[in-house]
Amino acid sequence: MGHGGCASRHSLTRQDKLSGWAISLYITSMDVSPGDLADRYLAFARSEAHGVSPIYERYATSTAESCDLLTRLLNLPRGKQQPNLLLAATRHAVGLPQGDRDFARHVLDAWEEIKPVILSRSTQTNEPGRCACLLPALAQFEAPLALIEVGAAAGLCLIPDRYGYDYGRAHLPAVEKAAPVFPCAASDQTPIPAALPRIAWRAGLDLNPLDVRKDADMQWLKTLVWPEQTDRLTRLEAAIAVARRDPPNVIAGDLLTATEALAAQAPKDARLVIFHTAVLNYVAPEIRKEFATLVQDIGADWLANEGASILPDVASQAVLNDRAGAFVLSHNGRAVARTGPHGQFIEWL
Ligand SMILES: C[S@@+](CC[C@H](N)C(=O)[O-])C[C@H]1O[C@@H](n2cnc3c(N)ncnc32)[C@H](O)[C@@H]1O
Repeated sequence: MGHGGCASRHSLTRQDKLSGWAISLYITSMDVSPGDLADRYLAFARSEAHGVSPIYERYATSTAESCDLLTRLLNLPRGKQQPNLLLAATRHAVGLPQGDRDFARHVLDAWEEIKPVILSRSTQTNEPGRCACLLPALAQFEAPLALIEVGAAAGLCLIPDRYGYDYGRAHLPAVEKAAPVFPCAASDQTPIPAALPRIAWRAGLDLNPLDVRKDADMQWLKTLVWPEQTDRLTRLEAAIAVARRDPPNVIAGDLLTATEALAAQAPKDARLVIFHTAVLNYVAPEIRKEFATLVQDIGADWLANEGASILPDVASQAVLNDRAGAFVLSHNGRAVARTGPHGQFIEWL
């Protein structure tokens, strides 16, 4: 136990349960003790980073073992205590520790530089690779399409027609030079579209939009990619370059209060599709239900690509036991596919 231990208080069973925290980020009023927070970091290390990022597994474990660092984190607002934010903010502010230097010590020594990044930024990973999973669903609608993405971050998922795709048994080349090509393992049942979607109009909204034209915003997005995921980073950089040539419109707004006004701006002769990926985990379950009703009232097609625990009624249709960690893609509340959280695979139902 480093830096004067705040023991993790719970059994392994409890730690396993806590891994769900990483999926759902909406804030409850539950009190958090140092032991709880240690458990959260250990659960992140074991359930999320293990086998994916040995570096983040080590750093999250180091955090869980440092009473000093846990205490600093507990003095931050609840929504600012999560592992991904600490790890990215540290990289962004001062880089990762060199050699075998202890992560917690590294953070404590640079806390005054790291803390403002934690407070001013949030985990808004914008993963354009998720477009590979949206494409087969979008192809089911009659074009031209009008797209609204809620929780769009920088809007990189709003331009699925400007990337290329490699589905293994079929390829969709990008029109633009140097556009990224997203690999996505598609099951035999997946209806891979023959062409890129025809999009007449698009707009996004986000509580905190990121601007593809701003270097600082894009540097933050790149820092949110885990250190070992270098191919993913290369594709993200290529997607940012594509978006910068003709940036998508992403306005500031809340998904419950700003969607209707945005929908009113969509051209009436295009099919309106309102979609989101990896967003509803930021809002409470009752808000998710209200949002579903809102989209229904607007009369748009609703595509949701979310973690399995986020819309349980939808996920229960998707038989997930063989695909731990999979997202569920749904159309108007009906599950249509299991998808890789970063767009790595799609299995049509
Ligand atoms: C993990 S990012 C996903 C970005 C993008 N959809 C993607 O898949 O790459 C989640 C985004 O949802 C936004 N968000 C969270 N709650 C929101 C709300 N109530 N209204 C609008 N956006 C929200 C966050 O600011 C963040 O940019």
